[in-house]
Amino acid sequence: MTIGNQVLSRKSGLRVSQLALGTGNFGTGWGYGSDFAEARKIFDRYAEAGGFFIDTADTYQVGQSEEFVGQLIANDRDHFVLSSKYTMGAENDGSISKSGNSRKNMVRSVEASLKRLKTDHIDLYWAHFTDETTPMEEIMRGFEDLVQAGKIHYAGLSNFPAWRIARADMIGELRGWSPLVAIQTEYNLVERSAERDLIPMADALGLGITTWSPLAGGMLTGKYRNNEQGRLQGLGGILVHSEQSGRKTAILDTVISIATEADTTPANVAIAWLLDQSRNLSTGMVPILGPRTLSQLDATLGALDVHLTQDQIDRLTSVSAFERGTPHDQIQSLGAQARGGDKIIRRASFVTTA
Ligand SMILES: NC(=O)c1ccc[n+]([C@@H]2O[C@H](COP(=O)([O-])OP(=O)(O)OC[C@H]3O[C@@H](n4cnc5c(N)ncnc54)[C@H](OP(=O)(O)O)[C@@H]3O)[C@@H](O)[C@H]2O)c1
Repeated sequence: MTIGNQVLSRKSGLRVSQLALGTGNFGTGWGYGSDFAEARKIFDRYAEAGGFFIDTADTYQVGQSEEFVGQLIANDRDHFVLSSKYTMGAENDGSISKSGNSRKNMVRSVEASLKRLKTDHIDLYWAHFTDETTPMEEIMRGFEDLVQAGKIHYAGLSNFPAWRIARADMIGELRGWSPLVAIQTEYNLVERSAERDLIPMADALGLGITTWSPLAGGMLTGKYRNNEQGRLQGLGGILVHSEQSGRKTAILDTVISIATEADTTPANVAIAWLLDQSRNLSTGMVPILGPRTLSQLDATLGALDVHLTQDQIDRLTSVSAFERGTPHDQIQSLGAQARGGDKIIRRASFVTTA
């Protein structure tokens, strides 16, 4: 199987792989992950399969992930689209000055990341999480200055609410600054909330969408039903879903049953569903894989050869349906009742005056 490539978004000509290599598991700084030898095997296999889009962050494994990635890309730096993130820092020392979205933290973080990555530029630089404090003008102007200084080439926002992203996108456009090119969000069969606002917003604005935890941290492999140990125990329940609701149990039941029908694994069904979701978008959507071992990557790349039927896709979409809430439910019911401008307006005015 070969990993294809695509334009990340309508905001730039940057080409990326159809699957990104996530490196949250590269290192043992969190007490759980892959050592350098295993990370090298994963990285080499991903590159051999045609992948060249690498996702890391300063905070992953307390800086080790960036250090590993720096060593791994060194021989052919320019072949890879290197993305990293700032906000939480690598120090883990609890200093308030070394965290957040402020320009102060952005500038010191990018310098520290460049050292760990042993490169003079990061291709795609993300604010990792919103701190809900720093004005979007400050973040966007900070990104623009880093682009002008040649330290980063593109910028994106990860784990920000849609309204902040849309505002930042507009500020960048009106000021003539380098545009935001993409968003990053959790998105998988058990966590589909991004469909409320983030994904429609990104599609409308032409922002690329990179999605983390395609396997819900491992839950969608079904391994925990077989009493296997893994991240659930190793990371103490962080960054992994468990079957704590009937909805999640029903989703996993369906994933496992479709895997049997399609003669593949539950993990590959979960990723094939994700890949299918991008078909209705006019912008790019890239799942970020998170293998901890070479055999996990090998197994997961098999998703590229899985072709689910429309009936199987529909069953997965239906069993993982979630409550969209207001105003989405009203918009959907109005739209379903009256597709066509004048009817929608008549119906909407009826609702507002009723
Ligand atoms: N922007 C953000 O805030 C954010 C947040 C989280 C992640 N990310 C990025 O997204 C990447 C992927 O996220 P993720 O690690 O949560 O992805 P994930 O694929 O949902 O979970 C990865 C875990 O799934 C298990 N796994 C993977 N492939 C498997 C296979 N074939 N068979 C059995 N188990 C398998 C492994 O669990 P075990 O360890 O138990 O073996 C692995 O640790 C990260 O590396 C990181 O780059 C970004």
